[in-house]
Amino acid sequence: MNKATRKTVIAGNWKMNKTPSEAKALITEMKPLVADADCDVVLCVPFIDIAAAIEAAEGSNIKIGAENVHFKASGAYTGEISADMLKEAGVEYVVIGHSERRQYFGETDQTVNLRTLAALNAGLKAIVCVGETLEQRELGYTETLLKYQTKMALTNVTKEQLANVIIAYEPVWAIGTGVTATDDQADEGNGYVRAAVAEAYGADVAETVTVQYGGSMNAKNAEGLLSKVNVDGGLIGGASLKAEDFSIIVKAASK
Ligand code: PGA
Repeated sequence: MNKATRKTVIAGNWKMNKTPSEAKALITEMKPLVADADCDVVLCVPFIDIAAAIEAAEGSNIKIGAENVHFKASGAYTGEISADMLKEAGVEYVVIGHSERRQYFGETDQTVNLRTLAALNAGLKAIVCVGETLEQRELGYTETLLKYQTKMALTNVTKEQLANVIIAYEPVWAIGTGVTATDDQADEGNGYVRAAVAEAYGADVAETVTVQYGGSMNAKNAEGLLSKVNVDGGLIGGASLKAEDFSIIVKAASK
């Protein structure tokens, strides 16, 4: 973390977990546990949970995010949700390009870019995910790939809009596997992301961009990961479904 130049953001990604009533119960449990956080606290929840989550989080420091957004403003796109719909519902953040979307739902670097632009143009904050597979890492392509994904995602994003972008480095091999990147691997991956932002926007701008680490971050390993200068927070899957564990990560980010 480097709180002097950029925000620390801990964001939960609930994925396809929790019904609206379960969302309400979990947020009610979390609220007092994260109330004194010295970082931004976000929960990205399934679309159907958004209304309940916003109601449950009212009056607290927990911000609500969505897990995806469509890139068109409106039209014949059955089953999709637009950025304006999210905005009006009270959503502040949206996860874009998560590796599960890339892996199972045909997400490409181009659609990640279009979604990012749609989110930013609607006034949402985008949490854009990048990350290499184990095979890509073993072939030595981690740096090339992270820089490519980062630059592709940010195509046509202005310097001003970049203030509303968080990038999450999530090595695919670490997501939901219990295998976490080492502190140094996370720092290195996040550093490649920041270097890509520096190449596109300049080093000064890159210093201000929040780059999260994600992939089996938990109550035990969060402090070590967050101690690294390039790790400005976390995108947390499994551990964000447990109030106590999530609050321990928030506390680690509040130091
Ligand atoms: P995990 O998920 O913490 O369960 O590995 C992280 C993510 O997919 O964002």
